[in-house]
Amino acid sequence: MEKRILGNQGLEVSALGLGCMGLTFGYGPATDEKEAIALIRNAYDLGITFFDTAEAYSQGGNEFVLGKAVKPFRDKIVIATKFGFLDGDATKGLDSRPERILQVVDHSLQYLQTDYIDLLYQHRVDPNIPIEDVAGTLQDLIKEGKVKHWGLSEAGADTIRKAHAVQPLAALQSEYSMFFRDAEKEIIPTLEEMGIGFVPFSPLGKGFLTGAINEHTQFDKNDFRYTVPRFTEENRKANQTLVDLLKELAAEKDATAAQIALAWLLAQKPFIAPIPGTTKLHRLQENVGGALVELTANDLSNIEQSLEQIEIVGERYPKHLQNRVGK
Ligand SMILES: NC(=O)c1ccc[n+]([C@@H]2O[C@H](COP(=O)([O-])OP(=O)(O)OC[C@H]3O[C@@H](n4cnc5c(N)ncnc54)[C@H](OP(=O)(O)O)[C@@H]3O)[C@@H](O)[C@H]2O)c1
Repeated sequence: MEKRILGNQGLEVSALGLGCMGLTFGYGPATDEKEAIALIRNAYDLGITFFDTAEAYSQGGNEFVLGKAVKPFRDKIVIATKFGFLDGDATKGLDSRPERILQVVDHSLQYLQTDYIDLLYQHRVDPNIPIEDVAGTLQDLIKEGKVKHWGLSEAGADTIRKAHAVQPLAALQSEYSMFFRDAEKEIIPTLEEMGIGFVPFSPLGKGFLTGAINEHTQFDKNDFRYTVPRFTEENRKANQTLVDLLKELAAEKDATAAQIALAWLLAQKPFIAPIPGTTKLHRLQENVGGALVELTANDLSNIEQSLEQIEIVGERYPKHLQNRVGK
């Protein structure tokens, strides 16, 4: 698979990574460990060298599965993980106190069965801790060798600038797809100016852009989408126009809707590396094919015109989570 570089320090990753969250957390019951390990190893065989996890995904449980899966080829891949929630529990609030960051890193190294983290993100900006203090802590960890590169997630442009001035950032990880394009206004131009990579999360719109979800889909009560305004039955129905467009484009390109959604992201900037998540091998294979779909300048301009006609309805987060982004 094509490789991309995140940030001016030269962190090289496969153009598409694998988001591991859903293997244990967020979208209903966890995948059986053996199957999860097999999926991750298949991803590597398919050319993926960029794996995304977080302390908050099952309080280390997701890191544990990833660490076990990649052990045979650990030095050939990039592991990205995240700190920043109180007790590693996203429902409890934020905690980026320097002493807590150091503790999380030691836990993550243990769970991941490794002695370095390639890319460590602050999961959400903590308004109680100056970002310069967070950046200083990361600088110490980088000097110590426990962390190679660092990044932020869902941070605002001012925070990105302040953080980068203390310790250069390799990447920002925030939501970006045809389903949610806010990053185009201020964030992507800021990243481009400063030489920081961009890792779009939920690049398939949490599954919606693939066409596998419609107004009849039933979500498990512990599936995050059950609580998301954009995923109410009514909004799923209204937003099908976007899926219809993706399906039309897919038919023209002899591809699938998921592949078009990923190819479109990859075509936006050379410093973008999306991390689609799946628990299923056939979908992993399908998604990897997205890196091979070519969209010409003409295709992109036609897509842009079509997207301008489509209004997406429903907030992407419930209110209490919306308060944590863009800080
Ligand atoms: N920084 C943050 O705050 C943050 C937030 C959310 C996510 N993330 C990271 O980003 C990664 C990806 O985001 P995401 O998992 O939220 O969303 P996503 O990648 O946009 O979509 C994942 C969903 O789509 C389904 N799916 C995947 N490929 C498919 C295909 N080809 N056809 C039909 N359905 C398909 C998956 O279901 P199946 O498993 O059933 O295939 C899953 O429910 C996560 O794993 C996590 O590592 C980070």
